[in-house]
Amino acid sequence: MSSDKPKILVTGGAGYIGSHAVLALEAAGYPVVILDSLEYGHAELVQQHLQAELIQGKTTDRPLLDQIFQTHSIGAVMHFAAYIAVGESVEKPAEYYHNNVVGTLTLLEAMLAAGVQQFVFSSTCAIYGPPKTVPIPEDHPKNPISPYASSKLMVEEMLKDFSAAYGLNAVVFRYFNAAGADPEGRLGEDHQPETHLIPLVLQAALGRRENIAIFGTDYDTPDGTCIRDYIHVADLASAHVLGVEYLMKGGETTFINLGNGNGFSVREVIETARQVTGEAIVAVERDRRPGDPPRLIGSSEQAHHILGWQPQYPDLESIIAHAWQWHLYRHGRV
Ligand SMILES: NC(=O)c1ccc[n+]([C@@H]2O[C@H](COP(=O)([O-])OP(=O)(O)OC[C@H]3O[C@@H](n4cnc5c(N)ncnc54)[C@H](O)[C@@H]3O)[C@@H](O)[C@H]2O)c1
Repeated sequence: MSSDKPKILVTGGAGYIGSHAVLALEAAGYPVVILDSLEYGHAELVQQHLQAELIQGKTTDRPLLDQIFQTHSIGAVMHFAAYIAVGESVEKPAEYYHNNVVGTLTLLEAMLAAGVQQFVFSSTCAIYGPPKTVPIPEDHPKNPISPYASSKLMVEEMLKDFSAAYGLNAVVFRYFNAAGADPEGRLGEDHQPETHLIPLVLQAALGRRENIAIFGTDYDTPDGTCIRDYIHVADLASAHVLGVEYLMKGGETTFINLGNGNGFSVREVIETARQVTGEAIVAVERDRRPGDPPRLIGSSEQAHHILGWQPQYPDLESIIAHAWQWHLYRHGRV
């Protein structure tokens, strides 16, 4: 594909959020190269629905990174590649710090050596820890309570230092709960193992699991269940395109929440999924899990203010309807 727009290297571009970002970049006319280890990504979805060249490999592989920067004229890097399971990170912190921190450091060093200065990074609201104020603004105190979240905060600190010392410019996006699927049904969420609520609820709707567990029904929330901020993956993707364009216009390093601004409770998610799917979906009530705050909602004012970003699909019905369409397709039901 010939384009007057710079080529973007997308790490983790065969994964859930990265693949949707590639779709949005390509729709906006950017050529893309994907680097993905394929430990969790889906090569067949990249081949079917994206134009991008897919290179299988790890961000910890410096010779491979050097070769990519020598072969391709890369204008900016979007870095999604990471291990993402919070619980697993508690069991295997070394693997998480190696992959998420050392992998990012290796990538940044290779970028700087190649003269690439623009970087978009996937961080997480988990760096805030239990919130002191809701909605959570970007300057909220940082108190990560898992190695996964710590690994993301460490990279944020590196990016501040690299910006000051080497002139690197980064947009750091702190996502709340990514959810939904491509509205045209080409891509969606398929994590193995799955830990996210909406796909688990939809697995129950498909009969692929017996029920959905509600962990804690006695929180100080209107219906007693935890409230989370679900952000449509297509809205995350559009923010990434705006983020890279902000950097290309000379924007400096900035830290931006990406949430919906609205919270939905676990019961609301299950009830909306029942309406969207027409399935009964059995819910079972369990004890609270340690470390789950009652409410996690992000303030996305900075994303509006700095990038002019507005979520196009803030309603739970669209998020779940798109995810359901994808689940039906992925599991051969349509
Ligand atoms: N899903 C969410 O709700 C959420 C919330 C906050 C932050 N994030 C962050 O967003 C990013 C993408 O998350 P996702 O849900 O799409 O996860 P995902 O597992 O679907 O995608 C990550 C991709 O990166 C690849 N990968 C992992 N380590 C790699 C490495 N060292 N080198 C090359 N490829 C590697 C995996 O094979 C996978 O395809 C992650 O950085 C994650 O921490 C996700």
